[in-house]
Amino acid sequence: MELSDKRILLIISGGIAAYKSLDLIRRLRARGASVRPVMTAASQEFVTPLAVGALSASHVYTELFSREDEQDVGHIRLARECDLVLVAPASADLLAKMAYGLANDLASTILLASDRPVLVAPAMNPKMWSAAATARNVATLRADGVHFIGPMRGEMAESGEAGLGRMAEPLEIADAVGRLLGSAKGPLSGRTAIVTSGPTHEPIDPVRYIANRSSGRQGHAIAAALARLGADVTLVSGPVSIADPPGVHTIHVERAEEMLRAVEARLPADIAVMVAAVADWRVAGAADQKIKKRQGEGPPALELAENPDILRTVGHHRQRPKLVVGFAAETQDLEENAVQKLRRKGADVIVANDVSPETAIMGGSRNRVNIVSAAGIQDWPDMSKDEVAERLATLISELLPDA
Ligand code: CTP
Repeated sequence: MELSDKRILLIISGGIAAYKSLDLIRRLRARGASVRPVMTAASQEFVTPLAVGALSASHVYTELFSREDEQDVGHIRLARECDLVLVAPASADLLAKMAYGLANDLASTILLASDRPVLVAPAMNPKMWSAAATARNVATLRADGVHFIGPMRGEMAESGEAGLGRMAEPLEIADAVGRLLGSAKGPLSGRTAIVTSGPTHEPIDPVRYIANRSSGRQGHAIAAALARLGADVTLVSGPVSIADPPGVHTIHVERAEEMLRAVEARLPADIAVMVAAVADWRVAGAADQKIKKRQGEGPPALELAENPDILRTVGHHRQRPKLVVGFAAETQDLEENAVQKLRRKGADVIVANDVSPETAIMGGSRNRVNIVSAAGIQDWPDMSKDEVAERLATLISELLPDA
């Protein structure tokens, strides 16, 4: 089993998402891991030590100053006798304590004393997640080498508010544990992939830019799906408002030229999936200073210059990946244009989608695509962007030539 003999120290902190930790314990154990639970005082307001103990088949540690527990294992041994410390849910309060190195209860003391890898699954109200203080703490923790899974976008259990803050699902957390412990084996294990996603922003002057409606959802979902199949994925993302996908190395860029540089720097790779809605043109000689309105002069004329075509560059590269996948955003003659694009861009597969305004695909959460390759055209039914990503990742693993 994937996590056979792995010892997970699971710290459960306070929050309604603690109920999902019960399922998480089950899933980790089903993969062969042993789970030793530590609960903060607040978490016991949401789930009981009895339930956590029953599901983990382990003693549940709750007190720093417990004579029995200290004689039995002690907090330093708890911190070290494991392969991974997993904090799920990780509350804003516990993240703050970790960032500052506070140690005033069992959970925070273990985290400070541990020399093991730490994975946290934050869960909190979106306002708390986006608060400046939390952002500072998260940046500090990332710099300290703490691994994050989520939070995800979704509705909050208590308030119905939507936004970033929902804890990752137990399955996603268990997958992240597998990846961190290097035990995940998928059909793409040992393979490298580069994915581009999102729009590009092409500056007009320091405050204005040309952009498009791409949300990055499809590209990000594909990066995550390839990682779930075991690939080592680099995502090069234009400016988006969604979170970096779990288990993926994300590089943030703004302009098409930066995106191309970032992609070329990651070659050679086995797989390239170019999903970004790269601006075809940039403003030639963008102004260094803000362009001012001047009485009587009328609006400025913008001269455009052609941007590099990233897909085409990769498709014809001397270090061309073994499998190159592009997207075709079309509003008419979808198939014919896609077949032409396949040839012109040197791609093995073109995923063609109809982005005419009535389909609401660009920026939306669903997609309807045709898969065009030398083998012909497959018409996939309407499905969520996550499902498209899942199926495309599987198709890529089938089409990819052996190493
Ligand atoms: N693409 C790219 N770099 C560009 C433009 C597009 O890498 N400068 C990639 C996209 O990521 C996508 C594919 O090319 O995978 C198709 O993009 P699309 O805009 O549909 O095609 P174009 O080549 O711009 O053709 P047209 O505007 O004629 O439809």
